[in-house]
Amino acid sequence: MSEQPILVTGGAGFIGSNLVDALLARGNSVRVLDNLSMGKLANLPMDNPRLTFIEGDVADAGLVSRAVAGCAAVVHLAAVASVQASVDDPVSTHQSNFIGTLNLCEAMREHAVRRVVFASSAAVYGNNGEGQAIDENTAKSPLTPYAADKLASEHYLQFYGRQHGLEPAIFRFFNIFGPRQDPSSPYSGVISIFTQRAQQGLPISVFGDGEQTRDFFFVADLVELLLQALDAQQVAPGAVNVGWNEAVSLKQLLAQIGELLGGLPAVTHLDGRPGDIRHSRADNRRLIEHYRLPVQTSLRDGLAALLNS
Ligand code: NAD
Ligand code: UD1
Repeated sequence: MSEQPILVTGGAGFIGSNLVDALLARGNSVRVLDNLSMGKLANLPMDNPRLTFIEGDVADAGLVSRAVAGCAAVVHLAAVASVQASVDDPVSTHQSNFIGTLNLCEAMREHAVRRVVFASSAAVYGNNGEGQAIDENTAKSPLTPYAADKLASEHYLQFYGRQHGLEPAIFRFFNIFGPRQDPSSPYSGVISIFTQRAQQGLPISVFGDGEQTRDFFFVADLVELLLQALDAQQVAPGAVNVGWNEAVSLKQLLAQIGELLGGLPAVTHLDGRPGDIRHSRADNRRLIEHYRLPVQTSLRDGLAALLNS
């Protein structure tokens, strides 16, 4: 195993900290760069001697350069993950969600670090899926600053690939869920909010009619794919969807949570969110072509693990 660390930006967050655990468990050294805006030190095994934590912002080019120096590869997860936060505050989220990527590209070029695994998003397709399984060639329609920043980040990573030898493995995650997804903000992922409120008996708000659908993917299954992308001899060209090609409506999600908990608190319906995507379901043929699919953690098993965490 290489002595050079893997840099995980956003490594104190939900997906990042699950990945850090897996990297440390298999013997890697890990460097985390995170500004702790959403992430927490409590998510990380800070006493592990193979973990180095750098508190700071990916919008700080000098700091990103120092963080990248000497690394074997990078997994770039740092971003404001909330679509709604980007609608409310496009200027500030752009610093994290786009400038951070550009700083990383430059730092990797400077230090000749090649492999970068990038967390793009199903949000780049907007509503162009029209309820069908969305393949990677579907026309892009970024409806929010979040989606525009992710798509622009993809284009810059590809440019640095062509021009400067970077090896970007670009994933378009659909909706990831599981332990450590922070439920404490109104901007948090829907499963983390619904499960926490249901457990605490607090009323649940559904934005819109609850018939909108998402393709939910358990975080441990995603981590397996991130490790494969780090290890692959060659990266898959273009971007690769990460989803199961399964559509679950918010109403179905609530029903499953209710079954697991033996009941639900009151559910109210509010206006839909601006820019909210109606239906999101991955065509995952490219994922199957380029990666070994993990054994699927079902939504029910993933919810049960989350409720017990
Ligand atoms: P998260 O908020 O738990 O993790 C993001 C981490 O990045 C946090 O620890 C946060 O503190 C850190 N961060 C934010 N801005 C930063 C900055 N400017 N500098 C340094 N650190 C910063 O969210 P997550 O769900 O783990 O998301 C990880 C990545 O995956 C994000 O890029 C997100 O856009 C992407 N993604 C997530 C999902 C999902 O369903 N969770 C789906 C598609 C894409
Ligand atoms: C999520 C991710 C985003 C990712 C995208 C990819 C988060 C916070 N967002 O966005 O990073 O790029 O998937 O598909 O991880 N909702 C409610 N009530 C609530 C909260 C949400 O009804 O209290 C609804 C929303 O309006 C939306 C659905 O639930 O219709 C999902 O919302 P959310 O979990 O925020 O995810 P996405 O917007 O799909």
